[in-house]
Amino acid sequence: MHFTIRQARPNEKDAVLRVYYAGWRAAYKDLIPKDALTDQAIRPHIALNPERSWVAVVDEAIVGTVQFGPNPEDPDGVAEIRTLYLLQEYWGTGIGKKLMQFARSWLASRGYTRAYLWMFTENKRAAGFYQRLGFSDTGESETYTIGERRYEGSKWEAPLQPVPPHHTGPHPFWADPHISESMLRAHLDPETDRASRKPATIRRTVRWLAEQYPAVKSVLDLGCGPGLYTNEWQQAGLQVTGIDLSSRSITYAQAQNPHVDYRVGNYLDLAEENAYDLITLIYFDYGVLSPKDRAILIQRIYRALKPGGAFVLDVLHQNYRLHFFEGVQTPDMGDFFTKDKHTVSKTSLYYPETKNLLEQYDIRTDTETKSWYVWNTLFTQKSIRTELAPFSEVEYFADLTGTPYDTDGTDFAVIAQKR
Ligand SMILES: C[S@@+](CC[C@H](N)C(=O)[O-])C[C@H]1O[C@@H](n2cnc3c(N)ncnc32)[C@H](O)[C@@H]1O
Repeated sequence: MHFTIRQARPNEKDAVLRVYYAGWRAAYKDLIPKDALTDQAIRPHIALNPERSWVAVVDEAIVGTVQFGPNPEDPDGVAEIRTLYLLQEYWGTGIGKKLMQFARSWLASRGYTRAYLWMFTENKRAAGFYQRLGFSDTGESETYTIGERRYEGSKWEAPLQPVPPHHTGPHPFWADPHISESMLRAHLDPETDRASRKPATIRRTVRWLAEQYPAVKSVLDLGCGPGLYTNEWQQAGLQVTGIDLSSRSITYAQAQNPHVDYRVGNYLDLAEENAYDLITLIYFDYGVLSPKDRAILIQRIYRALKPGGAFVLDVLHQNYRLHFFEGVQTPDMGDFFTKDKHTVSKTSLYYPETKNLLEQYDIRTDTETKSWYVWNTLFTQKSIRTELAPFSEVEYFADLTGTPYDTDGTDFAVIAQKR
């Protein structure tokens, strides 16, 4: 079933309340007398905090909701998952489980280490659900009065653990043979800029850089993919080297142009010294790397450049955060991840502490679930300048075709000069 989990919008209060009313009536029908389950009777028990409300949406209708966040009396690192309700016809679809998993992942991405929740002690169905998701009974209880009767509530809790920034899991994205084939197809599709920019933009980039650096003779493109940039550079008369992890992309690139020196390899292993006038790393690939790998790469690039040479890259700006969707989606991605019948669940999270974006793809087939983690990092001029410390001079542009830097831009280009 296709669904989306996203933050509730300010105008959705009534739709969210309807899920609460229906959710209460379905969940507590054997627990609470009917006359205490009318909308009016339920309403006083619901503390709606729109900023903490997230909704599950199917065909544009809100079918579930989860509300979570810390309370003032909670110790540091602890937050409550206050409510989780789903219309009964969606029970057993996996949406409830995803709402809870998302709540936990979101809290973990914000640095919380424990989540707790309260439930009616007699609600055995909920207890089974939360137990399967890793919650356990703390033994703490309290009493609620609903209508004429009193009910006991139990406090359950679970540890929270974020996916650590830049974790790739057992299957690094770029190294997978099927995905590298899908990526190659995406790179070569001139209509999409999913894997690489469109051909006209690539040509403008090469032309602009060639104008900026008329004396440049040798270029190294890191993560060159199928050689879209390297080919342009070679045709402009330069001595060109391209490195990529994907042997599939390199085989393709070499067949297109025998005059480029293509190498299959990890650019983090770059070992040359004083070898290139220009080194490029294009399409936000720098932010994919962990801080440790970025530090290694900067050292190696600096060493591989000739004096007077330049390193050219592009990164996502902190402003991109405002455009980044957080939540869960179930996109149809064709056979990008696998040719087997499967479902895709994509969880998107922001990590404010490390300025990381995570897009986690959980691919479920009849036999297994595999997770792929796609990371990036948001930068400012200041934070990238700090990382480029060895370079004597750093310039910023809105893009790699020379557009002047724009403070509102969602990404930017950087040129760092070796003295
Ligand atoms: C988003 S694509 C961009 C390709 C190219 N720069 C472009 O804009 O057309 C990223 C490329 O980097 C390669 N790559 C990722 N990590 C790498 C690494 N550590 N060493 C070498 N290549 C890498 C991938 O195989 C992929 O071809």
